Amino acid sequence: MSRDIVARSGTARGEVLLLRRTTDDTAIAGVLELRVNGVFVMDTLNVSSEQVLAHQALAAAAHPRRVLVGGLGLGFTVQALLTDARVERLVVLEIEPDVVRWVQDGLVPETADVLDDPRVEVRVQDVAAYLAQCEPASFDAVLLDVDNGPGQLVYERNAGLYTSGALARGLSRCTSDGALVLWSAEHSPALLKRLHRASTSVRHVPVAVTLQGRETHYHLYVAHPPRR
Ligand SMILES: C[S@@+](CC[C@H](N)C(=O)[O-])C[C@H]1O[C@@H](n2cnc3c(N)ncnc32)[C@H](O)[C@@H]1O
Repeated sequence: MSRDIVARSGTARGEVLLLRRTTDDTAIAGVLELRVNGVFVMDTLNVSSEQVLAHQALAAAAHPRRVLVGGLGLGFTVQALLTDARVERLVVLEIEPDVVRWVQDGLVPETADVLDDPRVEVRVQDVAAYLAQCEPASFDAVLLDVDNGPGQLVYERNAGLYTSGALARGLSRCTSDGALVLWSAEHSPALLKRLHRASTSVRHVPVAVTLQGRETHYHLYVAHPPRR
């Protein structure tokens, strides 16, 4: 199997590539991959965990009207959120301007029109910086899928998002009946422990995925804000 470059971006954080797999295997030919500094971030073949991330947030928040997503990526979480008519406003934070442009330009056919939905406000900004300056209880659900998780960081700076202080801040940006939901490639007992300390209740949700013929899991953490 080889890969063609669909688009390339050189940024302050390094190189971001959108690749297309070329192979005789019709099941995976044409699959798109997002890579940052050579590290696999996601592809368009296994998007169930990105979609379950959205479904878990929609189920966990009592009234998911205002939703924040950290990490547009290839747009599958945003697309899944938009299928729910209760979502009135969806703020999407993406740190890489070219990733936003690629999705807007339709380079990812499956999600080509997600950013055209009038409920979406997309911002090119670090989600941590945005959360720091927004008011408490601004969102009914906050979803973070900005990296491969605390154990496999693509951007070292994102370590700050998984600290006790940042988790407490993320929870404080949720309404009292809202939820903070995080995605991680690996299960992180340390993250789960920090979330337990910062919230009223936390659930760890493993999501089964098949990666290159291997059965494994990605991991979601669904946390509810402490009582105010
Ligand atoms: C795994 S992808 C997100 C996948 C997305 N859930 C989907 O359905 O396609 C992670 C994205 O987060 C972005 N990102 C990384 N760090 C970020 C940060 N601190 N703030 C905002 N976006 C960030 C990356 O550029 C990448 O596009």
